[in-house]
Amino acid sequence: MPGFQAVVLAAGLGTRMRSRLPKVVHEICGKPMIMLVLDVLEAAGAERIYTVVGHMAELVEEVVGERAVCILQSEQKGTGHAVMQVEDALSAYEGTVLVAAGDAAYLSEEDVRSLVNHHLETRASATVLSSIVKDPSGYGRVVRGASGRVERIVEEKDCSPEEALIKEVNSSVYCFEKRRLFDALSRITPDNVQGEYYLTDVIEIMIKDGLRVEAVISKDPLAAQGINTRVQLAEAEKIFRDRIRERLMLSGVTMVDPATTFIDFDVIIGQDTKILPFSIIRGKTVIGKNCIIGPFTHIIDSTVSDGASISNAVVVGAEVGKEASVGPYAYLREGTRLFEKSKAGTFVEVKKSTVGKGSKVPHQTYLGDATVGKDVNIGAGTITCNYDGYKKHPTIIADGVFIGSNTNLVAPVKIGKGAYVAAGSTITQDVPEGALGIARGKQRNIEDWVKRQKREGKKSGSEEESGGTCDK
Ligand code: UD1
Ligand code: CA
Repeated sequence: MPGFQAVVLAAGLGTRMRSRLPKVVHEICGKPMIMLVLDVLEAAGAERIYTVVGHMAELVEEVVGERAVCILQSEQKGTGHAVMQVEDALSAYEGTVLVAAGDAAYLSEEDVRSLVNHHLETRASATVLSSIVKDPSGYGRVVRGASGRVERIVEEKDCSPEEALIKEVNSSVYCFEKRRLFDALSRITPDNVQGEYYLTDVIEIMIKDGLRVEAVISKDPLAAQGINTRVQLAEAEKIFRDRIRERLMLSGVTMVDPATTFIDFDVIIGQDTKILPFSIIRGKTVIGKNCIIGPFTHIIDSTVSDGASISNAVVVGAEVGKEASVGPYAYLREGTRLFEKSKAGTFVEVKKSTVGKGSKVPHQTYLGDATVGKDVNIGAGTITCNYDGYKKHPTIIADGVFIGSNTNLVAPVKIGKGAYVAAGSTITQDVPEGALGIARGKQRNIEDWVKRQKREGKKSGSEEESGGTCDK
């Protein structure tokens, strides 16, 4: 396909969203809506993309990043005025300019290709992508003459009662011959109900100039639907979620209940992985083959290797190794790496720590800033005391260590290879390789204490002798 350059309009306020944020940064399935448009344009072969920014321009620029050249429209005087801002940037370019609204979330690669092809084949000066909808309200109508040829596009607010009945609407995606576009734009006026410079007015100007204008009707009735309100945003979310789920299921992923499985656009999931109900998988997450995810699991920006299982867990910015097991009720936070066949079990929280191959952290543990070697067993209730109120400190647990239950590891601290830590210890010094670290009050038994209590009553039981049963 011959090349084209694209202009995406994203300077508007998006008043109907009733948001403090620009409309185009609102997300659909984890992706800012403008990125959906940029993805499609790139995939369809746009050589270069300009984005017109205005309202909270810096924020939109940050979202767009390297994906497009941003051009400022400092006052938002309408879609036609927005395109005028790109004239200088395009001064050296001759050829096809595709213009799309930044809220054209349903635009497909197929539609872009057929629009550009049709435009080039017919050597038109302008080609509009339109669609036929049941309810045209809110859209610009494509007015065709008796011969069936496009005559103009009229905005709803400027429609006559007859025009209002037209069901073919403007998608706000067009191809233009560059020179003709800017020539026509120099002649549009804000002489309409909204007092704006409408891009759509260039169509009538071109026709009056005797130029050829075409319209390509998309097969998809949604093609024209922009996202103007939060209701439309939620509709788009649902439609795209369905598409994502369908694509993944057809590629070999099992979803026991698709209706309660929520997956973002860029998530990758391998064959024969099974997603149990009420699971949310977001961001740049990659899940391997033969995994079991869920139920009630929320995974964000994480990597899960083949054969791992994660149940009732929250996993954020973590790596879960091959055949590792997580949960139920675990929280893996940023910077966690669980190696192959390791386990972070019930009520376990792990932050910025690695757990080596085959190591187990089965119950009620907090690991923060810890490096755990392989084949380590961490007893229930073990806590790394990594924070002194000012700084975070590391805990290093070497291969083959056994940490008894209810241990406090006061960081910075190292437990040497193969060492043991006795249950209930508060470890404040390093434990050398092969040693037993024990740090707890020595037990003593007071013979016949219970009998004496009963005889003498509580009065006589001294505090010290109450064996911790004293509840004042
Ligand atoms: C527009 C079309 C309408 C079409 C509909 C399809 C016009 C005049 N109308 O209407 O025919 O049916 O899209 O969804 O073009 N923008 C700027 N600068 C501005 C004004 C708008 O960059 O000064 C951007 C907005 O950020 C938005 C896009 O242009 O991304 C379209 O603007 P919007 O207000 O959504 O246009 P609609 O009223 O929906
Ligand atoms: Ca719109």
